[in-house]
Amino acid sequence: MRIAVLREREAGERRVAATPETVKKFIALGASVAVEQGAGEGAAIADADYAAAGAALGTAAEAVKGADIVLGVQAPDPGALAGAASRAWVAAIFDPYGRRERVAAYAAAGLQALAMEFMPRITRAQSMDVLSSQSNLAGYKAVLAAANAYGRAFPMMMTAAGTVSAAKVFVMGVGVAGLQAIATARRLGAQVSATDVRSATKEQIQSLGAKPVFVENVAGIEGEGAGGYATEMSEEYQKAQAELVSSHIAKQDIVITTALIPGRAAPRLISDAQIATMKPGSVIFDLAVAAGGNVEGSVADQTVQRHGVTIIGYSNTAGHLAADASALYARNLFNFLSAFWDKEQGKPVLDEEIGDAVRLTRGGAIVNERIKG
Ligand code: NAI
Repeated sequence: MRIAVLREREAGERRVAATPETVKKFIALGASVAVEQGAGEGAAIADADYAAAGAALGTAAEAVKGADIVLGVQAPDPGALAGAASRAWVAAIFDPYGRRERVAAYAAAGLQALAMEFMPRITRAQSMDVLSSQSNLAGYKAVLAAANAYGRAFPMMMTAAGTVSAAKVFVMGVGVAGLQAIATARRLGAQVSATDVRSATKEQIQSLGAKPVFVENVAGIEGEGAGGYATEMSEEYQKAQAELVSSHIAKQDIVITTALIPGRAAPRLISDAQIATMKPGSVIFDLAVAAGGNVEGSVADQTVQRHGVTIIGYSNTAGHLAADASALYARNLFNFLSAFWDKEQGKPVLDEEIGDAVRLTRGGAIVNERIKG
């Protein structure tokens, strides 16, 4: 069983899909691991550290040659995998809704594409969940980036020269990233409020010491929604939410938006007119910018000024913490493959529940229910 780890080729991608720690663990399972030279550079991991863990270092072609499993952060171009074993597995983030042509190319190449973002939200898969591990770091980084762009302090400070008041932070969307954003802003001493369409988040917001701000007169999503995810809300809800946000947002210094709907464009939560009501010097961080954005006018990887408000959004927020993001992502991949490791066959054998959820292509065809047809 040969496992290959390639250097990421997407622009700005600094993460890597395996660390010396996971290389060692794969070898302990009986696999051999080949790593492309320089694969860990963006995450501050030297080739020598991979070699010391037991990996063979080489060019991309050398690493891929005969590989049964290729690990990636962003799915590699299938053309780069020509030397891999026939029917090789590729475990990576595929963006299956946005990059259908790439999924089709994987099918045509006879590769088995395993989309890590399709990991089901079930208890036993929590340690394999790359969306959670990366969103958590993204929520943290979003607050730091916003704090950095803000011309005032976060905590209240009483000094001899006078009092500095605490920043007011509003978090929109309280999933994994939003919860970490609340916790981070609280640690920095801000006054925090938060909202979501899922009523189950109300208690979570309160338990972190923040104030829930919810649409009260129109039904949101009771409980958790399918798989824990939100769906598109009714027009009536959207209108009520817009009114609520309008009255709240004008009093905020920092807004962090995190709202996503799987397979769809991110919901628009803040309009340009609402931005105009905010105080000059306020900062918005749009964590959903890569999915179309929650904020009107946000542009990926650019700092935009609108009505005196700074709007920031990174296309790859977790990638800004490449070392930790890689360490957690690599463990997610190891936890996934090792959980299914069949000692006799010396390779992973997926079960139906998780296998069918993450497998996009097999036997030359697209087989995943979520993207078929
Ligand atoms: P996400 O990244 O898909 O969305 C972020 C947040 O935005 C969600 O809380 C969502 O409800 C909210 N949102 C969507 N549309 C909105 C709108 N129009 N206005 C305001 N908020 C909106 O969500 P994420 O972080 O992936 O978490 C979703 C759920 O999955 C959570 O309940 C989380 O606890 C659960 N989860 C379960 C896991 C497991 O059991 N293995 C692992 C990770 C998360």
